Amino acid sequence: MEITGKTKIMFVLADPIDHVRASAVMNAYFASIGDDLAVSPIHVLPGDLGQAVASIRLMRNVFGFGVTIPHKTCVIEHLDEITPTAQLIGAVNFVKRTAEGRLVGDNLDARGFTASLAQHEVAVRGRKVLQVGAGGAGRATAFGLAEAGAGELTIMNRDDGKAHALAAAVAAHYPATKVSAGRAEARSFDLIVNTTSLGMKPDDPLPVDIEGVGAGATVSDIIVNPAVTRLLARAAAQGARVIGGRPMLDAQMALVARFIAR
Ligand SMILES: NC(=O)c1ccc[n+]([C@@H]2O[C@H](COP(=O)([O-])OP(=O)(O)OC[C@H]3O[C@@H](n4cnc5c(N)ncnc54)[C@H](OP(=O)(O)O)[C@@H]3O)[C@@H](O)[C@H]2O)c1
Repeated sequence: MEITGKTKIMFVLADPIDHVRASAVMNAYFASIGDDLAVSPIHVLPGDLGQAVASIRLMRNVFGFGVTIPHKTCVIEHLDEITPTAQLIGAVNFVKRTAEGRLVGDNLDARGFTASLAQHEVAVRGRKVLQVGAGGAGRATAFGLAEAGAGELTIMNRDDGKAHALAAAVAAHYPATKVSAGRAEARSFDLIVNTTSLGMKPDDPLPVDIEGVGAGATVSDIIVNPAVTRLLARAAAQGARVIGGRPMLDAQMALVARFIAR
């Protein structure tokens, strides 16, 4: 890749930085569509976030920046505007810098997730969905599933209070979806989605018991690395359809390209 004065520059802000893969995915995507754009991870400590964002505002060849752990919520106070989607989810994962230097935050996780399901012809409309996890990504996927017309959405999380709070927030905006929180038997759902971080380490326990889940059901795990988590391997062995986290990340690339277009 040749980076010149004409190259559009983007960043990914994170702390820690070692795990960041989004920059590599973005560079590969923009190279594949022939866009002269380069993305670099930037290690920014939480206490320095305001100054880092203020500096980026002054960089006229910067078109935007991704935001990951732990900055997704804290970055909002440093921006000029956030989209209604980011407002609803309460977190931003991508910021565009307009030609005038305005910083606009969006959350592309929800649309990336539902786009990845659609690309794999996994139906959501009218279906019974069990979501495990109610963290940052889980907030996005829950709103995305309701937006995509899920008939029933049950949210199960280690911290049950967070599951109930998320269920109430989703139900308030999407009355057509029957939303609830608490423990449930995975076998009675059409689509089971893991949004917890359980599965990133090889010795992690399964995030949910999928006994009885087989052909006819889809199991999705949004973890990107490993590509096939223990949950997905088990589900596939039982005959269920499986989908990993990489398609969700990939689907966000086209959304980023559209978002930063000036
Ligand atoms: N594919 C993509 O494009 C994409 C996008 C974003 C995130 N992700 C992935 O999604 C995962 C979650 O990210 P996040 O930003 O939502 O993290 P987060 O905000 O820290 O949330 C973590 C979630 O995992 C649960 N959890 C963590 N450790 C647990 C344990 N030992 N037992 C049971 N539950 C546990 C948490 O439950 P509590 O609420 O009880 O703590 C919470 O629901 C990560 O693997 C991340 O890489 C993928």
